[in-house]
Amino acid sequence: MRLENQVTIVTGAAQGIGASFARCFAAEGAKLIVVDRQESVREVAANIDATAHVGDVADATFVRGVVDATVAQHDTIDILVNNAGEVWPTGPLDEWEKALADYDALMGSNCRGAFLFGRAVAPIMVVGGGGNIINASTDHVNSAPERGRHHGHGAMDLYNASKWALNGFAFDWSKALAPHNVRVNNINMGATDTEMLRSWIGTDPDPEYVATWMKSDDIAEVAIQIIDEGPGGRTGDSIGLWAGHPTVLPPPE
Ligand SMILES: NC(=O)c1ccc[n+]([C@@H]2O[C@H](COP(=O)([O-])OP(=O)(O)OC[C@H]3O[C@@H](n4cnc5c(N)ncnc54)[C@H](O)[C@@H]3O)[C@@H](O)[C@H]2O)c1
Repeated sequence: MRLENQVTIVTGAAQGIGASFARCFAAEGAKLIVVDRQESVREVAANIDATAHVGDVADATFVRGVVDATVAQHDTIDILVNNAGEVWPTGPLDEWEKALADYDALMGSNCRGAFLFGRAVAPIMVVGGGGNIINASTDHVNSAPERGRHHGHGAMDLYNASKWALNGFAFDWSKALAPHNVRVNNINMGATDTEMLRSWIGTDPDPEYVATWMKSDDIAEVAIQIIDEGPGGRTGDSIGLWAGHPTVLPPPE
């Protein structure tokens, strides 16, 4: 068991990649706390003997409550996976009121949630002698070699801005927390077969494209390998995983 008794919070765990993180980490012996605003996260929890919390990761009171309850239950927190996220089309020509609402919602779920959980959990990891924080980002931040330097779609400026912001957290937190054996890494995955991708692509996806999509359990396995590197392992890395490429942990940058 590679994660025996590791107390692990996974956000956005009701479905998709977050549910895979939860299931695969539990299969390696971790004690899971799963978080989502969908009630169905309770079913994920019931199947892996985990604790579920239903709420919004952008809500500071909710996040504080999850973290405090976890410490009361398990004394410590070893792993945080900031996975919750959402996307819909946004851009610079959107109507003003829609733009303001979209900014708060997308930055809230994708960026403020990671900020809140990171801030709440980091001091606990320091007291516990170490830990791992992994943020779910996107290949729009670290694109496949054949795609050039980056590839904004021209239709998701707020999603992309929220994920680029996670680099700021990972790069800075990794340095601040290195003396305390807390490692912080981002996984910048490309197309992975989940509800999010299928609803973005639409009802009739090109089968050749679908065949290249990654599997969420394979993303979870890469995350486990990052943790398995141990205290001397990478930190501050922004790891690209790309559709049509093997879903494997590359060497440290
Ligand atoms: N699927 C892909 O192709 C892909 C590619 C790149 C990055 N990602 C990232 O991976 C992560 C997981 O994506 P997925 O494809 O599994 O998506 P998904 O939509 O299938 O699952 C996301 C989960 O997060 C939850 N969530 C969203 N906002 C929340 C909030 N504010 N509070 C609480 N829960 C919230 C949702 O309820 C949902 O259960 C996301 O951060 C996403 O941006 C996914």
